[in-house]
Amino acid sequence: MRILVTGGCGFIGSNFIRHTLASHPQDQIINLDALTYAGNPENLADVQADYPDRYQFVLGNVCDQAKALEAVERADAVLHFAAESHVDRSIEDPSAFMTTNVVGTNNLLMAALKVWGAESPNRFVYVSTDEVYGALRLEDDRAFREDWPLSPKSPYSASKAAGDHLAQAFHHTYGLNVSITRCSNNYGPFQFPEKLAPLVILNAAAGKPLPVYGDGLYVRDWIFVTDNCRATDLVLRKGRAGAAYNIGAENEKPNLEVVKLLADLVAQAQGKPAGSLHGLISHVKDRPGHDRRYAINAGRLREELGFAPDLTFDQGMAATVDWYLGHGQWCERVTTGAYQDYYRRMYEGR
Ligand code: NAD
Ligand code: TYD
Repeated sequence: MRILVTGGCGFIGSNFIRHTLASHPQDQIINLDALTYAGNPENLADVQADYPDRYQFVLGNVCDQAKALEAVERADAVLHFAAESHVDRSIEDPSAFMTTNVVGTNNLLMAALKVWGAESPNRFVYVSTDEVYGALRLEDDRAFREDWPLSPKSPYSASKAAGDHLAQAFHHTYGLNVSITRCSNNYGPFQFPEKLAPLVILNAAAGKPLPVYGDGLYVRDWIFVTDNCRATDLVLRKGRAGAAYNIGAENEKPNLEVVKLLADLVAQAQGKPAGSLHGLISHVKDRPGHDRRYAINAGRLREELGFAPDLTFDQGMAATVDWYLGHGQWCERVTTGAYQDYYRRMYEGR
């Protein structure tokens, strides 16, 4: 397969590209990425060196029709990860979320339809999120299922749900061979250090406050990023046209528990006793409209596609802490604006 991956310089996209090139020796990947603050070609430096003939980076925005068409013309599958992905930023200003996540998704779907034609067997996977289902209550004993109505609550999840609806509409109306993934919270290497896990690890290591929004009893369902990549790969190759697949690993945890575990793993690495960094926990002002709980029922993925996660939560968290403690310079570099400018200049016009 020649797979067009969008947003491949981000957290999940870069892990997905590395996974796919290693496990499918016949496949080629084109990575279309606009290099926003969250996209870092350095995340794929090893891939660029290891697979010069099978991997190509193209600097481009999914909202640019000509770029999207040109990229789809070189592919027979699309894996659409590119998005604005941080809820807090969407609350500050939803504009970029609507442009990339809604207009950009429509643009790519249109490009696929135009290049491949209706009823083509070529696959289009839209990467949605479990957040499109809205929020569960803590006392609720149900978990999200694929046939639930979408009920997004944040500007981020509303924009992802719009993309999700568009993807379904292109299947229903034009027969495009679309599947959708709705994954729970990912953690692991190469996540931009504004999301909970990397932020807490880096702050704990530096002795800085660990910000916990509100009471810290918000529940997220966690999956190690490479397990999501394996599941996404299964959906790409074996998923049913028109179907959505929840992806999860049955790790529902309150934020406070996650923060304490990460702080303890950092303390352990520094030769300090468990609990010694808990004093850094600082309850801060809550996120407006904060979704109380997400929980994924991944039965369809397990039963139809035979998926089971490789890593337990404790193994994944330990590997994550190890990775960030060993990549302090990466963390510093990706959080400086000059870094993105450098890469944009390097790839401009290619
Ligand atoms: P990320 O923010 O780390 O990376 C996003 C990537 O998309 C970056 O490389 C960025 O440069 C690129 N991008 C942004 N706007 C673009 C545009 N207009 N054109 C081209 N490229 C653009 O995101 P992530 O955490 O890797 O998430 C990837 C996908 O998975 C997103 O669609 C997200 O909604 C979804 N998702 C994420 C999680 C999670 O826990 N991180 C969970 C479920 C679903
Ligand atoms: P985040 O990593 O932003 O993912 P999402 O909002 O998509 O679930 O946040 C995970 C949870 O952690 C969420 O309930 C918000 C909370 N949180 C904090 O308590 N402190 C923080 O500094 C951050 C970034 C998040």
